[in-house]
Amino acid sequence: KFETPLLIPPVMPRAAKIARAGKNVDYYEISMKPLHQQILPVGLPATPVWGYGAVTSASKKGLLLHNAPSLTIEAKWDTPVRVKWINDLKDAAGNFVPHLLPVDPTLHWANPPGGATGRDTRPTFTETPGPYDGPVPIVTHVHGAAGVGDESDGYAEAWYLPAAGGIPPGFATEGSWYGFFADKAAAKFGVTWGPGYAVFQYPNKNRASTIWYHDHTLGMTRLNVYAGPAGFYIIRGGPAGDDTVIDSRTGTPAILPGPAPREHDKFPPNKSYREIPMAIQDRSFNADGSLFYPDTRTFFDGVAGPFVPESDLSPIWNPEFFGNMMTVNGNTWPFQTVEQARYRFRFLNGCQSRFLILDFGNIPGVEVWQIGNEGGFLAAPVNLTAINDNTLLMGLAERADVIVDFTNVPPGHYVLGNVGPDEPFPGLEDEFDAADPDTTGQIMQFRVAPAARPDPSTPPAFLQLPAITPLPPETVTRPLALLEEMSAAFEDAPVEALLGTVAFDGNGTGVCTGRLWMEPVSENPETGATEVWEIYNATGDAHPIHIHEVAFEVVNRQDIVVDEAEGRVALAPGSEPAPPAAWETGFKDTVIAYPGHVTRVRARFNTPGQFTWHCHILEHEDNEMMRPFRVGPVRP
Ligand code: C2O
Ligand code: CU
Repeated sequence: KFETPLLIPPVMPRAAKIARAGKNVDYYEISMKPLHQQILPVGLPATPVWGYGAVTSASKKGLLLHNAPSLTIEAKWDTPVRVKWINDLKDAAGNFVPHLLPVDPTLHWANPPGGATGRDTRPTFTETPGPYDGPVPIVTHVHGAAGVGDESDGYAEAWYLPAAGGIPPGFATEGSWYGFFADKAAAKFGVTWGPGYAVFQYPNKNRASTIWYHDHTLGMTRLNVYAGPAGFYIIRGGPAGDDTVIDSRTGTPAILPGPAPREHDKFPPNKSYREIPMAIQDRSFNADGSLFYPDTRTFFDGVAGPFVPESDLSPIWNPEFFGNMMTVNGNTWPFQTVEQARYRFRFLNGCQSRFLILDFGNIPGVEVWQIGNEGGFLAAPVNLTAINDNTLLMGLAERADVIVDFTNVPPGHYVLGNVGPDEPFPGLEDEFDAADPDTTGQIMQFRVAPAARPDPSTPPAFLQLPAITPLPPETVTRPLALLEEMSAAFEDAPVEALLGTVAFDGNGTGVCTGRLWMEPVSENPETGATEVWEIYNATGDAHPIHIHEVAFEVVNRQDIVVDEAEGRVALAPGSEPAPPAAWETGFKDTVIAYPGHVTRVRARFNTPGQFTWHCHILEHEDNEMMRPFRVGPVRP
């Protein structure tokens, strides 16, 4: 631990050629390809991973281009970004590479090359299916990009294969989502999709914020993302950009800690950065340095493996995965030297199933302020030192824009801890054991040194953050459910978790109906409608729920009573709605839905099209805890 300097990802270089003359569009060509990366400390073996990275014609010799996680896309508010996303999962000879990790073919998944886009039944396997070893489908989603057309959203069924010799173009068959969206993108932007790539465009009209991109292929997102493909995407400027923050003492623009990383910096990068993105991910490794991910259901509960023909359990998939090592920006337990000054960290919980509770309590004299979340700045800075005992709870895929003030920290080495559990998160009201203090209870080390230059940044207490314009009142309230299906064959073994709908009778009792990915769309807001989605969690665990396409407000939460056997929910007698936590104000794209609670969010659905909402525990998302939703008219 603490042997590797933190990698501060440089900014993704743009492609040399301009996409379309006369248009103010930032154009990138980004491929996903296999690489070996020194994730473990030097001296231990390198790890085969996949990474996104820039394809550039300029000479970038010696500079970091592909990495896991990848370089940061820097977008300007209201300036579209167009990306040619290339599936380059091929070897040097141009042949496709199989998956690094065991793909469970019994889930509802992409299932290439036939294009399982029209599947309407679940397969029955009568003998043991081995993991899929064909070419790897990919499709990229920019998580948190609002107002994106559905052709560019990375719909889980709009995946595509690498252009490698002998691969049939089955993905582009008529009626497939890939084909449908390719036609739409051509009509809308005049771009062409072809073998091995798709071209997506993002309007960047949501508030300045920390969003991110990652793979989203149906039934294998957990594996594709674990293999590496993810990166930060930062939107800057606009009506809620950094330069709209005011110093309340003077009424003039405030100064936030900086500078942020730039493009083409030498590697390892300049140590003087004071704005740093930090992707925290849990991973496990085999002795040869390769990534470990379970290849049998036996790993989780020991009940199902080896495969039982015609059982109700998938043989390879596991309901959750908790790595036994922590990585930040692609290295296990790195260290970062910081001066006695203020730093701005943009944290991402990029783990598979693990909720994090970052603990700054080991750093004497530190002060921690959260200023933003998924949707940009909060209503006001939140002093986590004062009100939350120096801790920061992060569900999967959540982001936190945080100012950590090391000014009064004595020089020395301190560990950023994690006191979230090494198992599913039950919510803060329930008991749980904190992560192993010797391993996953540690995230990284800060080496605090005397300040070598003055700190011009505004103390967080004096930051006046840009005003938040609330959404209009809702016209529709939609009760929805989180459910878990247990195995009939094996006691205590979950088959899958599900999203569903709730139908209330006149007496306040709601009957939950779980719905599979393949079932017809049940959430179909009208274009421009504002709706409240009420998420009734009838399971025993917390689930981080992400809605594509929108930035939502967290309205409140309320206690419910759950009749699990009957699949019924009701508001708890005498319960009152509780407002969101201070760090959940403003706009979010992912919210923690606690067990025994209904969590209400308000969103405006401005962009017509076919999108998804899902649990961001990647193992849940891959096995039915994801549903399509559609804004406006149905697909022709
Ligand atoms: Cu971060 Cu639908 O995903
Ligand atoms: Cu879940």
